[in-house]
Amino acid sequence: MQQQINDMKPDLLAAIESASDLTTLDEIRVSALGKNGRITALMKGLGALSPDERKQAGQILNTFKTEIANALEAKKQALETAVLNARLASESVDVTLPTRPDTHTGRIHPISQVMEEMLTIFAQMGFELAEGPDIEDDWHNFEALNIPPSHPSRQMQATFFMENAPGTILRTQTSGVQIRTMEKGKLPIKIVAPGRTYRCDYDATHSPMFHQIEGLVIDKTTNLSHLKGVLEEFMKLFFETDDVVLRFRPSYFPFTEPSYEADVGGALAKTVGKEWIELLGCGMVHPQVLRNCGIDPNEYQGFAFGCGIDRFAMLKYNIPDIRNFFESDMRWIRHYGFLPLDVPTITSGLSMNGGKK
Ligand code: DAH
Repeated sequence: MQQQINDMKPDLLAAIESASDLTTLDEIRVSALGKNGRITALMKGLGALSPDERKQAGQILNTFKTEIANALEAKKQALETAVLNARLASESVDVTLPTRPDTHTGRIHPISQVMEEMLTIFAQMGFELAEGPDIEDDWHNFEALNIPPSHPSRQMQATFFMENAPGTILRTQTSGVQIRTMEKGKLPIKIVAPGRTYRCDYDATHSPMFHQIEGLVIDKTTNLSHLKGVLEEFMKLFFETDDVVLRFRPSYFPFTEPSYEADVGGALAKTVGKEWIELLGCGMVHPQVLRNCGIDPNEYQGFAFGCGIDRFAMLKYNIPDIRNFFESDMRWIRHYGFLPLDVPTITSGLSMNGGKK
C-alpha cells in the first residue's frame, strides 16, 4: 500500500499545485477521489486484505486521502481568491469620474436656469448675492420703502396676509431685501437679490407666486448713468445679442426718485410682435428710503432696479404662459427644461446647450 501511495503522491501533489483553474482542479479531484478515482480504487482494495493488514493499510490510506483532500481544498481557495481579485480589478468603479448626464430624465427648470444665468452675469459685474425671507413684515415690504399705510401703491400689489401671524405678509416684491441690506450698515452696497414673490393674481401673465430679482447699488458717486450702463450690459449678455435697444420711460415708484420703467425694443421686441416690451422698474433710491435705513442721503446715493424673472424666462425661451412654470407637467419640463450639466458661464455661453438647441 505504502509503495502504491509513494508512486502516486508526488505526481498527484504536483498536478494539484500546477492546476491553473478551477475546472482543471476539479478534474484532478475526480480522478483521485471520485467514484472511479485512483484513491477510491485503493480504498476498495482494502476489502481483500486480512483484518490486521486492513487496519494498518487503512490508516495509511486515510492519512494520504486527507492530505490530498487538504491540498485540493487549499488550491481551490487560492484559485477562487485569484478569480475574485481579477474580477474586482476589472470591475472597479472610479468614483472620481464625472457622472454621465441622463438625457432622458431630470431637467433644470427654466426659472432655475434663468436665475443662474442672471446671477452669473451680475457676479461678473461684481454684485454680491443677498437674500430675504418670503414671509415679510410691513416695515420691510412697505413702510421703509416709503409706502405708508394709506399709500395707493399698496392696493396695486394685491397682498397675501398671514392669518395666523398678524403683521406679517407674503412679500409682494423683493424690494424689501434693499432695506434689509442697508439696515446692516455696511457701505458701499452692490447686491442682487433673487427670490419668490406673491400677489393675489392669476392669468396667462400673472401667477400668485412668481419670481423677482432686485438690484441695489449705494455709494458716494453712484448715478443714473451707472444704472443705464449696468442694465444695458446686462440685457446684451442675458439675451445673448448686441441688438438690444433700451428705452427709459419716466414712471413712479415710492422708493425711487426719479423713477423709470425700462423697455426693450429692436429685434427682441419684434419676435413677440411688439415695438417695445416693458422689462423692469428702476430709479435712484429715494432719500427718505436711505434715511429710513440710517444712511445719510447727503453723503450716499444709489440706484435700484427690480424685475420679474419669469417674464425674462418667457421672453428669452419663448414660453407663452406663466402658469405652465408651476404645473409640474413632465412633458412641459422635458421640452423647456435644461440639461443638468449645462452650467451657464459667460465664456462658454449662458444657454449654449439649452434644452431646445
Ligand atoms: N418692486 C417693484 C415691483 O414689484 C419693482 C421695482 C421698481 C423695484 C423700481 C425697484 C425699483 O428696485 O427701483 O413692481
